[in-house]
Parts: sequence; structure tokens; C-alpha cells
Amino acid sequence: KYYTEEYRPQFHFSPEKNWMNDPNGMVYYEGEYHLFYQHNPHGTEWGPMYWGHAISKDMIEWEHRPIALEPDELGTIFSGSAVVDWNDTSGFFDGGHGLVAIFTHNGEGQKQSIAYSKDKGRTWEKYEGNPVIPSDPDIRDFRDPKVLWHDKTEKWVMALAAGKKIMFYGSDNLIDWEFLSEFGEGAGAQGGVWECPDLFELPIDGDPNNTKWVLQVDIGDGAIAGGSGAQYFIGEFDGTSFVSDDNPEDINWLDYGADFYAAQSFSDIPSEDGRRIMIAWMNNWLYANRIPTEEWRGAASFPRVIELKTSKKGDIKVFQKPIKELDTITKTELFKIENQVVKASDIPNILEDVEADVFQLTAEIVMEEPVNFGFKVRKSEEEGEETVIGYSHSEQELFVKRTQSDDDYFSPYFNGRHTVSIEDENIIKIHILVDKSSIEVFAQNGEFVITDLIFPSGKSKGLEFYVENGEVLINSLEIKSLQSIWK
Ligand code: FRU
Repeated sequence: KYYTEEYRPQFHFSPEKNWMNDPNGMVYYEGEYHLFYQHNPHGTEWGPMYWGHAISKDMIEWEHRPIALEPDELGTIFSGSAVVDWNDTSGFFDGGHGLVAIFTHNGEGQKQSIAYSKDKGRTWEKYEGNPVIPSDPDIRDFRDPKVLWHDKTEKWVMALAAGKKIMFYGSDNLIDWEFLSEFGEGAGAQGGVWECPDLFELPIDGDPNNTKWVLQVDIGDGAIAGGSGAQYFIGEFDGTSFVSDDNPEDINWLDYGADFYAAQSFSDIPSEDGRRIMIAWMNNWLYANRIPTEEWRGAASFPRVIELKTSKKGDIKVFQKPIKELDTITKTELFKIENQVVKASDIPNILEDVEADVFQLTAEIVMEEPVNFGFKVRKSEEEGEETVIGYSHSEQELFVKRTQSDDDYFSPYFNGRHTVSIEDENIIKIHILVDKSSIEVFAQNGEFVITDLIFPSGKSKGLEFYVENGEVLINSLEIKSLQSIWK
């Protein structure tokens, strides 16, 4: 089925209709990627939560599936995760294996419950002994269980958001859970409640003998670009407690844009593949209920690979890049140059003749002198619209400016300029994904990322490359259209 509404993402997942927020239950099983998501099937605003469902063979093309989990007498179905119970630890699978979902029941208090599927995620049975972790009268925000199998201690571990902390629980069977420890007192960004944690181990610089654990924690308010956003901690996890290597005052943002929230990574990606792949809700609670779409509201970020690498400054950081499956929808080359000097005075701009609204742009640009430069995309003079992705040498920062990126004014929180500092560089490498209503910018091999929604008119398809005062050398610049995933 084609989806052709004005702002409908063409290569990002969105629900057929009605509201979507967090990705949930992301798991790979028997050749299929499952994406569940917070869904209100009754309208285009947040409301009673169900788990919507979609299945993909490649994380590119998604098939919309019927609702997986519905509210019941314990409450509505909030965020959570899913795992493959390979060894039937739960006893649900008659000695075989199957999928178990672990989620929050939001009713009288927030409690954690489970459900299982014996038919590759098509239908779900809630466990009759729910909840498996009762609510705690002292903790109002007590939710979003993310479960993983911890190899060394051979047990299931759950990371659970509790107020402004993460609590860890352990289990042998996904049913009986024991409290292990908590993390978070005074750590990282504390501007809002902590939500949607994730916990995983990654090699550093690809060395399987040298690993660290990443604890990803989203915060409901007070994130780097305002409102909700995703932070992470790097440290050790021994199966019981997480100890961060960061100084308590350090904050690591996963994304410097406004629209990357409730990020979650796939469970059970086969070890031959070995990637840690993350999807977030591309939105922000500041205005999520207002964004100007009609049939549906909310979309997923493009899946990204999360890696730990030593940065130029010598610290270990999360690096991100779009999954390589993107190549399968990368089509017509719209523009390509190499080794060309561009001066501020050059008229017309080199992208004058290019028209594109769904595309990727890759570039490597050398500053031989202090100079500010950038791209304008989804631009139309007639509509007075443009979204600027620029590097400011004077400010030593990369930015996305979306003050003229929307057709209709819908929220005072939307317009803005989102920045990340990139210092002491003379080459900027950039990979930009542009869709009907979003842009994702990966800079310096994915060390810095900015994800922002935009709502330009369908007519805004122009591009521009600008240089302010001086010149740059474009080592390479390539623009290719991306094909719709809906067919
Ligand atoms: C995050 C969140 C979760 C909660 C869900 C409810 O966006 O607030 O903490 O489980 O959304 O829809």
C-alpha cells in the first residue's frame, strides 16, 4: 500500500493510522524483525495504550500487523521489550522456544507484566499470574522494562525506569524477579523522569576482548534540545549492578536534535550479524500531540547501528550510523562532484538545479581557512521555507536550524536551532537523511548526530550549498534519491 499524504515518511516506519509513540518489543526471531510500538488505535493523540505491531525482513520494508496487546483489567499497555526464550526458561513453549514480551501495565499504579507468543509474534497470550513485578506505592513512575539475557551469570536481567533512577532485577524464568540494584542517584541529566532504559555490552573499536556496557536512559524533559531526549552512560555491568565510568556531572547525549526519544535496541540479533541496532520515536513530548499530520501521528527513526569507539579526544563514545540496508533503497544519483573549490561569491549555488524531497546526502568538506558553510534542504523561496544543516567555524559547532521548516505554525516549542560542538576540525564529514517530515544528520563518522522533524510543504524540494566569507574545498558531495518503502 502506498502512503502519499503530504508529510508521510517514505523510508521511516509510521503506523497506517492513528497515534504512535515509543518503539517497543524490538526483537529478531526466525528471519523477522519485530517492531511493536505504543499505539492509540482510537485517535491521533496519546490515549489508552496498546501495542501496535509491524514485521520486516530487512528493517526497511515493514508490514503492518494487527494489534498485539490490548488493555485489560490490570491497565493499558505501556512500553517494554521482548526476548526470545531459547531454552524455554519460562515453561511457556513446551520445551521449544518462542517470544516473551515484558511490559508495563498502567492502571492502579504501574506494574510489570509478561505475555508470550508461540506463533512468531502473530498472537499473544498474557501470563495468567500477571503482574510479575507489582507496583510500588512509593514509586509513581515505575515502568518500561527492558530485558536481556546476561551470559556470564546465566540469567535474565531487567532494567526498569523508576523515578529518576534505573532499577535492575534478575530472573531465571522471566516470571519470578528479584531486585538486584539501582543506578542513577545524581547521575547524568536529571531534568525529567527517566524512561525507556536499555542496557547492552559492546566491543570498543571492534575488539571483542575489550568491552564496555552502555546504559541508555531517556529523560522526559530537560534534554539537550529541550523537552524529551536520550542520554547514555558507559561503564561496567557484572550481572548485578551498573557502575558508570563517567563523572557524575558528565552528560552524554545520544542525539543533539529534538526528535529522538524512547530509543530501544533489538534483542536477539544473531551473533554472526553482531550489530546493536536502535530505533527511537522520532518526536518530542513538547509537541508530539500537535504535529500537523492528520491520518497518523508519530514515526520511527531510521534504524541505526550503535558502536563504541575511541574519539579523537581519546574518550570512548557511542558512534552511530544508518544500517547498511539503506543501500537497497538508495537509487538515482541526483548530484555528484569531487575535488571542487566553492567560494562565497560563487553564483548560482552549485545545487541550484537539484530537486529532491526524499534523499540522502553525503559530503566531505575541507576548511582551509575559518569559514561557515552548509546545506539548505527542503527549500522553496515561494513558500519561504528551508532547513539549514550547517557548520559554523566561528562557533565550532554543527547545527540544524528549523526556524523556517514548517508550513503551519503548530507549537511554540518547535522552531529552533539545535547544535553540537565539533572542535578543532578542518574536515567535516556528513551523512544526511531527508524524508518528507524529518532529517537525520550523522557527522564525523557518526560521533555527532542531530535528528529533527520538519514539516515543509510538499513543494519545498530545493537545495542550496552556501559558504559565508571565504572558500571550502569539497572533497566529495553526492546526493541520491531514496525510494519509498511502501509499495
Ligand atoms: C515514553 C513513555 C513511557 C511510557 C509510554 C507511555 O515516551 O512515557 O515511559 O511507557 O511513553 O505511552
